Amino acid sequence: MKNLFLIASFAVAVVVLAACSSKMSNTSVAYSKINPLETKVDSVLKLMTLEEKVGQLNQYNGFWEITGPTPKEGQAAKKYEDLKKGLVGSMLNVKGVKDVRALQKIAVEETRLGIPLLFGFDVIHGYKTISPIPLAEAASWDMAEIKKSAAMAAEEAASVGLNWTFAPMVDIARDARWGRVMEGSGEDPYLGSQIAVARIQGFQGEDLKARNTILACAKHFAGYAFAESGRDYNTVDIGESTLQNIVFPPFKASVEAGVRTFMNSFNELNGIPATGNKYLQRQILKGDWKFDGFVVSDWGSINEMIAHGYAKDNKQAAEIAINAGSDMDMESSAYIEHLADLVKEGKVKESDIDDAARRILKVKFELGLFDNPYLYCDENYEKETVGKKAFHDAVLEMAKKSIVLLKNEKELLPLKKSGQKFVLIGALADDKTSPLGSWRIAADDETAVSVLEGMQSYKGNQLSYVKGANVAEGRTQFVWETKINTTDKSGFPAAIAAAKGADVVVMVLGEHGLQSGEGRSRTDIGLPGVQQELLEEVYKVNPNIVLVLNNGRPLAIPWADDHVPAIVEAWQLGTQSGNAIAQVLYGDYNPSGKLPMTFPRNVGQVPIYYNYKNTGRPVMNEPESVFWSHYIDEKNTPLYPFGYGLSYTQFEYSDLELDQKSFSGDGSIEVSVNVKNTGKYAGKEVVQLYIRDIIASVTRPVKELKGFEMIELQPNETKKVRFIINKKTIEFYTAQSKWEAEEGDFNVFVGGSSVKTIDANFQYNN
Ligand code: BGC
Repeated sequence: MKNLFLIASFAVAVVVLAACSSKMSNTSVAYSKINPLETKVDSVLKLMTLEEKVGQLNQYNGFWEITGPTPKEGQAAKKYEDLKKGLVGSMLNVKGVKDVRALQKIAVEETRLGIPLLFGFDVIHGYKTISPIPLAEAASWDMAEIKKSAAMAAEEAASVGLNWTFAPMVDIARDARWGRVMEGSGEDPYLGSQIAVARIQGFQGEDLKARNTILACAKHFAGYAFAESGRDYNTVDIGESTLQNIVFPPFKASVEAGVRTFMNSFNELNGIPATGNKYLQRQILKGDWKFDGFVVSDWGSINEMIAHGYAKDNKQAAEIAINAGSDMDMESSAYIEHLADLVKEGKVKESDIDDAARRILKVKFELGLFDNPYLYCDENYEKETVGKKAFHDAVLEMAKKSIVLLKNEKELLPLKKSGQKFVLIGALADDKTSPLGSWRIAADDETAVSVLEGMQSYKGNQLSYVKGANVAEGRTQFVWETKINTTDKSGFPAAIAAAKGADVVVMVLGEHGLQSGEGRSRTDIGLPGVQQELLEEVYKVNPNIVLVLNNGRPLAIPWADDHVPAIVEAWQLGTQSGNAIAQVLYGDYNPSGKLPMTFPRNVGQVPIYYNYKNTGRPVMNEPESVFWSHYIDEKNTPLYPFGYGLSYTQFEYSDLELDQKSFSGDGSIEVSVNVKNTGKYAGKEVVQLYIRDIIASVTRPVKELKGFEMIELQPNETKKVRFIINKKTIEFYTAQSKWEAEEGDFNVFVGGSSVKTIDANFQYNN
């Protein structure tokens, strides 16, 4: 009986595997009609040895010359041999149809079972055509545009053979010292959740089997951005309320949006490394949220549990990680070396290996790799697709929408189009690499449009350029940009001389694109190096300065805010950066971005965020004593708050109305507000809705974003914007350890930033 069953399942599996070959595609089509996905997966699994199942859980970095001679010794030779034995489930950092095809061919044609590989890569903000860094895209608050940007990145990446991106990073981040804030959506769980969904939908599309869609990966699960003192990879110790209410929401939203993979993280969370964390991966992710894709470790993070002091060796690390629910091992070689033995020793259940392998195989089926493992391997399509014009047009649009106008006095902006004498100052103004930002590993250096080039395309004015000062020292290695130039001021005199006679001085200052990102934490978040001094020296001879900031994190620039009349936040905007900046400076695009992260006055205020708690000793307007929650040398308020951003026009909010003052159960309240364009340009405004739960079983923030809508208004035009408040709006993780709405009084605030709002009250009864 048992044998018969085995024979039958073997036959089923052979049919499925035969689908790898296009010759058998008719059989596979007929088969797939009568057989649901899970059965297909199981039928493959039944054919696999324990070692082959473990192989599916193994991911290697491809660093050797793939289409060159076969590696004969060292790590590369071992990886190559494992690949041929069917002991690799996925590769990362292999790109280009030629290389991908070469490896896929080994997996499909030379291994016993011919199971195709997944090819992962960090397509974080574009593949070769680079869009703004994710933090900048978040500043657009434009979900359709963000989705389009991810879809475009997926199309370009898929054309070079990739089928999986390690994005989006959905870590909520409150600490600008942490370099990876550039890779996320900022500080707010509501905005962060919306953006997570937009990006996942963009990458994965409607149909994972289409050749222009790829797998997305929600990362880093969880708490990575809460590294103590903003130092990357540092300890994370946060309570349940922060974890549930702030950190988890974008991850949960990612599961609900159908993300197919998750990545865990380097950090420990309350004493347990995330990679070996059962609570996170088994209880929350796979249990409560019912995530049915798979979890990949972060790079070497299984092995890093030894350094954490949580595993004694790589073998124990493998045991802990798999038991905790980490399905795939990225570059620790812990699984491939030890899991089979651990099963034999009874320390790991084979059913847990089966579960992990099943999840990975299922995703491979969903991608269509069993129907056509070379789906992503078409050299002609690759040639037609990479860098195509439509991508450049799309990243330009995204870049314009990501710019935030922080200050504009004396109507310095928009710039006049003719008859003016402008001088452009700053090494970043002429830089064609920095605007690509961090995490753009497939893009070629020197391929971004610089600000100088963007401004030169406007011919009506006299424009000169002077560097002033380098942002970084040296230019030799990949890491050079992290060395900030703190000494070389030899370019100052030329910059000062040029500024003297100009109508307007445009200064492009900030961080080089590789001064933020992974491993790039900073303790000083002012303008790096001698740039602050350069700004002050130029200001002395000509205060008509437009400061264009390039940066991957909020900067503390109080002096600039006090003195410089116009400040434009232009982040690192990608391939079309210079064109986007020029079009905004000249008013061909009216800036509409809003900050997704608070800008402090002083690094000492960090972590600073809009949704803080009131404390028992909140802000006093006219303090009578020193005993309240404040600093004696700095204000509590930020320099620029979350949600803030100006336009060349002005908007006025009025007539905030609630259709009723209370609701209960599944009822709702409609909130409406009139927004009028009172300025002289057409413009877009992001109308934001916040609430405050005044008394609750767990203290609630002074404000929480719960809705937003972007509207476009002509001069003098008024629009009524409506929001719905219901039970979902007011739910949070309560003292009962569950998400629910609690009765009581609430404030509602509506406005163009988290600070400038008009408000009303309502009540919720159960
Ligand atoms: C990062 C991940 C990334 C991985 C693979 C790690 O260092 O933390 O976000 O996806 O490398 O490149």
